[in-house]
Amino acid sequence: MTGLEIKNLSVNIHDKEIIKNFSLKVPKGEIHAVMGPNGTGKSTLSYSIMGHPAYHPTQGEILLNDQIINDWSPDQRSQAGLFLAMQYPVAVPGVSVANFLRTAMNIRRKAANPSDKGIPIPEFRKILKEKMAYLKMDPSFSSRYLNDGFSGGEKKRAEVLQMAMLKPEIAILDEIDSGLDIDALRIVAEGINTLAQENQMGILIITHYQRLLDYIKPDVVHIMMDGHIVLSGKSELALELEEKGYDWIRQEQPLP
Ligand SMILES: Nc1ncnc2c1ncn2[C@@H]1O[C@H](COP(=O)(O)OP(=O)(O)OP(=O)(O)O)[C@@H](O)[C@H]1O
Ligand SMILES: [Mg+2]
Repeated sequence: MTGLEIKNLSVNIHDKEIIKNFSLKVPKGEIHAVMGPNGTGKSTLSYSIMGHPAYHPTQGEILLNDQIINDWSPDQRSQAGLFLAMQYPVAVPGVSVANFLRTAMNIRRKAANPSDKGIPIPEFRKILKEKMAYLKMDPSFSSRYLNDGFSGGEKKRAEVLQMAMLKPEIAILDEIDSGLDIDALRIVAEGINTLAQENQMGILIITHYQRLLDYIKPDVVHIMMDGHIVLSGKSELALELEEKGYDWIRQEQPLP
């Protein structure tokens, strides 16, 4: 299958099992939403998919385009087309947004074609300017240090800017809506929709709020509780959840 596949994944943190026999398929071109209570393992899942060394699987497989990637480093995963927009992006003082993006793009180009000499600077500047304008980011952001002193919403826009520049095949967006004001939510969602359509991306969108899914329509909504998916359905499932909360699922699906 072209896309991301997770088979029977378990992940421990400090000997405690957080992800429990988790399975999910996100084919390219589809948008899947994962919703679930705090502390259920959503961010842990996103870190394991991206290859965070502290979140190595104890069981199961992560596949990208039918290849098992369990032992790949995060940069190998990125070069292969995986992308993670983090719930809490880290500041990188000393590295400007522009330098970071150009370096990342060049590494990906070189991975695809070893004789690539890197993106010409005028071309890079043009694309960056375009994408920043589209996301309504002030041009001065490109010379600021990555996430250093950025407001919550600015960090989220910077994550989407990275996605727009790197054009991944599969993107995991961990609470990309948290901290965004009402206008920014729409701008960011439109940006994600455009990218998804233009590039036939597969998207795994982690969110607490149904409202984001009004803007980015998921093909499937999954509910994750206690480390695995307990229920999947169409986008209406998110509405039902908004209305009823999580207790009805706890009652219907007694946890082991
Ligand atoms: N480095 C760590 N050390 C100790 N516990 C951890 C660590 N990382 C995650 N956990 C625990 O693992 C559980 C799952 O955390 P995770 O961040 O994946 O939840 P989440 O579903 O993303 O929650 P939220 O909706 O609040 O973002 C939590 O109980 C958390 O405290
Ligand atoms: Mg989280």
